[in-house]
Amino acid sequence: MGAQRIAIFDTTLRDGEQSPGCSMNLDEKLQMARQLEALEVDVIEAGFPVASDDDFAAVQAIARECRRPIIAALCRTIPKDIERAWEALSEAARPRIHTFLATSDIHLTHKLQKTRAEALEMIREGVTLAKTLTADVEFSAEDATRSDWDFLVEVFTVALEAGATVLNVPDTVGYTVPEEYSRLIHHLRKQVPGIDRATISVHCHNDLGLAAANSLAAVAAGARQVECTVNGIGERAGNAALEEVVMALSVRRDTLPFETGIRKELLYRTSQTLANITGIEVQPNKAIVGRNAFAHEAGIHQHGMLSHRSTYEIMTPESVGVRRSSLVLGKHSGRHALAKRFEELGYALDRVELDKAYKLFTKLSDQKKEIFDEDLLAIVQDGITHIPEVFKLRTVQATAGTAVFATALVTLATETGEATETAMGDGPVNAVFAAVDKLTGLSGRLMDFRVHSVSRGADAVGEVFVQVEFDGEPYGGKGASTDIVDASVRAYLNAVNKVFFARRTPKPGASEARR
Ligand code: KIV
Ligand code: ZN
Repeated sequence: MGAQRIAIFDTTLRDGEQSPGCSMNLDEKLQMARQLEALEVDVIEAGFPVASDDDFAAVQAIARECRRPIIAALCRTIPKDIERAWEALSEAARPRIHTFLATSDIHLTHKLQKTRAEALEMIREGVTLAKTLTADVEFSAEDATRSDWDFLVEVFTVALEAGATVLNVPDTVGYTVPEEYSRLIHHLRKQVPGIDRATISVHCHNDLGLAAANSLAAVAAGARQVECTVNGIGERAGNAALEEVVMALSVRRDTLPFETGIRKELLYRTSQTLANITGIEVQPNKAIVGRNAFAHEAGIHQHGMLSHRSTYEIMTPESVGVRRSSLVLGKHSGRHALAKRFEELGYALDRVELDKAYKLFTKLSDQKKEIFDEDLLAIVQDGITHIPEVFKLRTVQATAGTAVFATALVTLATETGEATETAMGDGPVNAVFAAVDKLTGLSGRLMDFRVHSVSRGADAVGEVFVQVEFDGEPYGGKGASTDIVDASVRAYLNAVNKVFFARRTPKPGASEARR
């Protein structure tokens, strides 16, 4: 008998996106959704439509564009939520309504002020309504692992009777442990009449660092859908990391005889795509996709590796899309080599995009000798932006030091020509931003400023992420350069250009450029 199939339900764009620092605008969500579709996840949870117009627009756009995976939209068991979720999904090729209600006494008493009987009624009504709209309905019992087990049996019995096709048992607060979670899944399978008609799903948070382990224990106990996120992003300590669950199932097929449909060789690229979009770097020692996940430092390990890779490697880096040597191109590489390398990285650039990428590449190769894959990903994801550049950076100069007030001189190109301004500030970045404000006529309030290195070496490319408020509206921007002041002003201008794009674009498109 072949291995049983585990469905991978990705909630990066919903549970992941709602965590601090991970918010994405519409373009970014679409970019991530395309990558998830290429990765061949079974389900993309695209958002929580009733939560905001931006969430609604994202679910709608992803449903329109991603035709292969199931597209799920989250909603409470409240009619207006369910109807809004369905409206957002109306153009989906394979829609799923995902409705949820908390079932633990803690949540029922302190959050919902509902009795268990009232909760059962809400579940029956919510799932019944969803079922009149679409055949594929998932019900989640929020905080299931802290709910009374006998009550959970009643909850899932009602959801199943009302027509739910997927029953999700979330460990909402990352509280359970593998052995207990396994017993819970067995208990439900034994006690809920007809449960075999539905798919049992698990959704684990990582508060105790057990999310992947708990998910695997549940799979062994009979769950057939795992909800997870790329890089494990999500509320608080995050969700089960997709790449960890998928690779554990793949590497330990001997003891976990299951398979997923995931294209594992795209795991690293998917992780990088998300990190580039959100600016949340992957921790170096992160399993599967961290920078050090396949690095062997100790002499004794290196010796073992040279003798035979299996001494210290349980999977090859290539199996998850990490190249052993990621040094790829240099100053003398031509357009053809660049296009080919982008293709290998999964980006088929059209002529205009390639022209733009090549310009950025030659500029970068003047600044640094070795161009790594990470540099190319930064070029393709940051440089080839679809936000029109009303203001383009020509030059920037800043002086700063311990004994002097920082000053900056910035020249920008606009539609009507070039303009230059000087400004002083509290540090060079602040001075540069003040000069840009004078040139654009806007006044930005810097809310967040993050910088990280996207490649290696002393001449590494630094990437800057800013969150700036203009007239009370937050806009995100990013910029990359080997010079941190240069990267900062590019990030700031990226946010400025989004303001102009938003103001020129009629609503609801205006919200697309925000955040
Ligand atoms: O953690 C949780 O319980 C959730 C549900 C809405 C599925 O995210
Ligand atoms: Zn969750």
